[in-house]
Amino acid sequence: MWDYTEKVKEFFLHPKNVGEIEDPDAVGEVGSILCGDALKLTLRIDKTTGKIIDAKFQTFGCASAIASSSVLTELIKDKTVDEALKITNQDIANYLGGLPKEKMHCSVMGREALEAAITNYRGEKKPVEQAAEVVCKCFEVTEEKIRKVAIENHLTTVEDITNFTKAGGGCGTCIPAIEAILKDLWSSGVMQEKPHVSKRMTNLQKIALIREVLEQEIRPRLQADGGDIELRDIVGNRVIVSLRAMCVGCPMGSVTLQGIQEKLRELVHDDIIVEEE
Ligand code: FES
Repeated sequence: MWDYTEKVKEFFLHPKNVGEIEDPDAVGEVGSILCGDALKLTLRIDKTTGKIIDAKFQTFGCASAIASSSVLTELIKDKTVDEALKITNQDIANYLGGLPKEKMHCSVMGREALEAAITNYRGEKKPVEQAAEVVCKCFEVTEEKIRKVAIENHLTTVEDITNFTKAGGGCGTCIPAIEAILKDLWSSGVMQEKPHVSKRMTNLQKIALIREVLEQEIRPRLQADGGDIELRDIVGNRVIVSLRAMCVGCPMGSVTLQGIQEKLRELVHDDIIVEEE
């Protein structure tokens, strides 16, 4: 069972703007029923002001897809097409009070439908997607989409890409290609931080790894300088320690703790907080 916010439940159970505008000024269709999600967005646009005066959607998808599509139609109404184009998939998710990370692809689908509709309104042609550009055949996700979504949402792992695009979430044969795209984005400098390996682990694995890093990486260094550290407790992402030996009362104690936190974040998980007991 997904942990949906009240807003998601509200928009899923009582979606606004369901349906199709007759003789619309713009149509955006994305996704495919074969891949599990599809969305059709139709818009009425005031040609004088460029304002979107009505928006309706039809979707085939889960609760998140319905809620995301419905919110999108609410967000774009009374905006000009240029203003509407500034709405990101993160704006859709934020309006809903967040989406489960595995469902972020629903917000991406909303943003894509909006882009497709405005492209259609402006009479621009969607670039033809070559078969060779499709990286994930299970979900028909192109390299262009993976790059775009990764950059816009600052995604660093294959798991992130799967959550936001579904690519990699089927047979898995495209995973090496997704990894190569991520590596290229990082090495080309498009994104600024080093990608980290996905660290999905159980609490027990996390505790064991924290112990291991403290024993093998951190304590020997402190002991070499006459100091030491003792692990006192682990509560969620908080690692509670006591400084020992020469570290006790050391004016650089806070710097030492900061260094330990950085090491644990690098080697265990980036949400770790180190506190002194
Ligand atoms: S080809 Fe991407 S999951 Fe199967």
